Amino acid sequence: MAQTPGSDAAIAETWSQGKGYELEFWRMVATNTPPCPPDYHAEIVARCNPEAEIHPAFIARIVTAPLDEAVLLDIAAGPVSSVGWKFEGRRLNVVPIDALAEDYAAILAEAGLRAPVPTRPGHAEDLASIFPPASIDFAHMRNALDHCYDPMKVIRGALTVLKPGATFRIDTIVNEAVIEGYQGFHQWNIERRGDRLVIWRPGIEHDVAAELPHAEVTLDGGEHWLFIHIRRLA
Ligand SMILES: C[S@@+](CC[C@H](N)C(=O)[O-])C[C@H]1O[C@@H](n2cnc3c(N)ncnc32)[C@H](O)[C@@H]1O
Repeated sequence: MAQTPGSDAAIAETWSQGKGYELEFWRMVATNTPPCPPDYHAEIVARCNPEAEIHPAFIARIVTAPLDEAVLLDIAAGPVSSVGWKFEGRRLNVVPIDALAEDYAAILAEAGLRAPVPTRPGHAEDLASIFPPASIDFAHMRNALDHCYDPMKVIRGALTVLKPGATFRIDTIVNEAVIEGYQGFHQWNIERRGDRLVIWRPGIEHDVAAELPHAEVTLDGGEHWLFIHIRRLA
């Protein structure tokens, strides 16, 4: 059935049509099938290394629990998380989730790769029903918020599952939907306008901080990549 352009149903339908492309991309990368750039394959192999170190900038944001007890959520992690697994030799509790996790498990197996912690299935829009409230010490999302069909629901859900004082870090390409012509997973644009974080598509615009009274939003970068920290205040 034809959907009203720009409606939630139309966005969800176009999102579903993007799955095949995403899976083919990751199959190419995992199996190192041409035209895969060699560094893409090397990166997924490196992510599978259980010794991979977590970036100190992520560790610095973990203030709500001792590191040994902290839960680090990687939202829309892909087949294997890019966050890393260890800090200063200690294995931390990294929990990766992704909407396509079941298909990714098959792709990794086909490629002979193994994630130190398998990505578990879950839509980023459903965080509040997957994890207990106030149970997460740090949430991370790279190159994926604009791939989701409802980014504001993702942010609200992340704030529900984060502990008060904990941070959601989002790394995103600026205005990706414009760049990709609103194809497949690319349905939303994210940009900074001065100090404001704006998520938009034609006919819809969210001023993120204005919609989140109990959060603090800070921005870095914003030319091609934008680095966002959203801290739950209460
Ligand atoms: C470009 S990849 C980035 C993966 C990983 N974060 C990285 O940086 O390599 C985008 C990921 O978002 C996932 N994704 C898209 N929409 C999603 C949603 N609504 N919920 C969960 N994952 C989603 C895709 O399956 C894909 O793995």
